[in-house]
Amino acid sequence: MARILISSAIPYINGIKHLGNLIGSQLPADLFARYNRAREHEVMFICATDEHGTPAELAAAKAGKPVDEYCTEMHAVQADIADRFGLSFDHFGRSSSDRNKALTQHFAGRLADEGYITEVSEKQVYSHTDGRFLPDRYIEGTCPNCGYDKARGDQCENCTKQLDPTDLIDPRSAISGSTDLEVQETKHLYLRQSALKDQLDAWIDSKTDWPVLTTSIAKKWLHDGDGLQDRGITRDLDWGVPVKRGSEDWPGMEGKVFYVWFDAPIEYIAGTAEWADAHGKPDAEWQRWWRTDKGAEDVRYVQFMGKDNVPFHTLSFPATIMGSGEPWKLVDYIKSFNYLNYDGGQFSTSQGRGVFMDQALDILPADYWRWWLLSHAPETSDAEFTWENFQAGVNKDLADVLGNFVSRVTKFCRSKFGEEVPAGGSYGPDEEALIADLQTRLEVYQTHMDAMEVRKAAAELRAIWVSGNEYLQSAAPWAAFKTDPDRAAAIIRLSLNLIPVYAVLSAPFIPGAATAMLTCMHASATAWPHSMAQALSALPAGHGFDVPENLFTKIEDADREDWKTRFSGTRG
Ligand code: 2FM
Ligand code: ZN
Repeated sequence: MARILISSAIPYINGIKHLGNLIGSQLPADLFARYNRAREHEVMFICATDEHGTPAELAAAKAGKPVDEYCTEMHAVQADIADRFGLSFDHFGRSSSDRNKALTQHFAGRLADEGYITEVSEKQVYSHTDGRFLPDRYIEGTCPNCGYDKARGDQCENCTKQLDPTDLIDPRSAISGSTDLEVQETKHLYLRQSALKDQLDAWIDSKTDWPVLTTSIAKKWLHDGDGLQDRGITRDLDWGVPVKRGSEDWPGMEGKVFYVWFDAPIEYIAGTAEWADAHGKPDAEWQRWWRTDKGAEDVRYVQFMGKDNVPFHTLSFPATIMGSGEPWKLVDYIKSFNYLNYDGGQFSTSQGRGVFMDQALDILPADYWRWWLLSHAPETSDAEFTWENFQAGVNKDLADVLGNFVSRVTKFCRSKFGEEVPAGGSYGPDEEALIADLQTRLEVYQTHMDAMEVRKAAAELRAIWVSGNEYLQSAAPWAAFKTDPDRAAAIIRLSLNLIPVYAVLSAPFIPGAATAMLTCMHASATAWPHSMAQALSALPAGHGFDVPENLFTKIEDADREDWKTRFSGTRG
């Protein structure tokens, strides 16, 4: 039994996530967690909400709520939706937790002690009306290059020129519109990533099995231009982890907080500590996942994320860990994803374009979305959601192949033999051939799942379902029944036995349907099928079952068209 630590990138707190976000980290991470639990490995699966930074502050202001209250509410909303999507986190934490505050301050203190932090003086724009420093993108004004009057402090959207806020003509606050702005000198802490460059480079080089998408992004940041830059890790904001050096005050840093990208990945560790706290367990229980001096040396740690998150996970977070000089666990494998686009464009949170997680569950069960998203995961390139493609995937794979098999077998048995596994006959060459085929396919499926090849695993699972259908079609128990009822009984006995096997193999993708299949077969304790020959004889003659309700309902053309219009870009 192996020990596998899994983290999904932690979603920002400001709003409900869309399906592109879901397939970019949480859903494939859940697939891997469920699979490894089914293979009887010890799994710790951590996710959380990413609650700090300007976006959280602004979203709270827009909602007219204090930011801490807003975060508490939105965390509950996200946790509920995650649960309804079947995301099986061991803990869904919060980056604003006391655990994360303490650990973030601890890491900053360690980095300072090891000489990896410098203080840098910077000029920043202070808004007297807003009572705060303004990040570059919250300052607007006229572009000195093209005269566009809504240029942002970091870049002019009209002519694309990169700008400094001080370049803008007639600058104003994007929050209040105030022009009562002043450039002030302020000090910030920088993480000396450049001093860790060689160590990071060697570490990335040692990861020869990582997806090219992951290593190519890391290499680009390590070597392009002037190479790896030091990073500011503090901000002049109210909301965030207060800057401290361990538990001590940090002279000159009063009123400042750590940058959201500094504390967010530390929440993977803090979330595991929150899990221990929530279960009344001692610190040793979370440390055995994270401290290589306290039992984590045999843990395999896998992270899931979208490609935009890769630089932070291949460079910045490892720099925090390495620079601490303490034996914290580094990631062993980073599975990264390209983007999922929506119907000829991009999913857009700001424009409400695409399907959001809550809306998805309002119209169809989680399994339909899980299956389509996972079987079309944007692994080797960006992928696209279209309603036609979604309808085809659900109707063909789930309804016509898997659902139809379960329905035909159970209904035929009920009508000819009653609602129990029939006795009589024995397995012959056709059954042996099917069992051998399924044994081979099982091993291929496991190989893809172990390697986190999500699309390939989905295709193999579908092929496993198809094999059963083809067997049933060619063995034709309805014809055999007329001349040789014992032969028909043997065919049906094997086919009924396939249902719990399908359920267990499919559960990481479609946990809801898998539970329904096990329940109807009175087989809830079914374990992973190591030997198909054994697994397909597990339900003996006389074992009772119920004919299930339709496992999957087909998507009609009219619904598809209705949804296409509804989700074209007007979320309120
Ligand atoms: O891109 C995002 O959605 C970020 N909130 C991900 C953070 S992942 C980690 F570092 F915590
Ligand atoms: Zn311009």
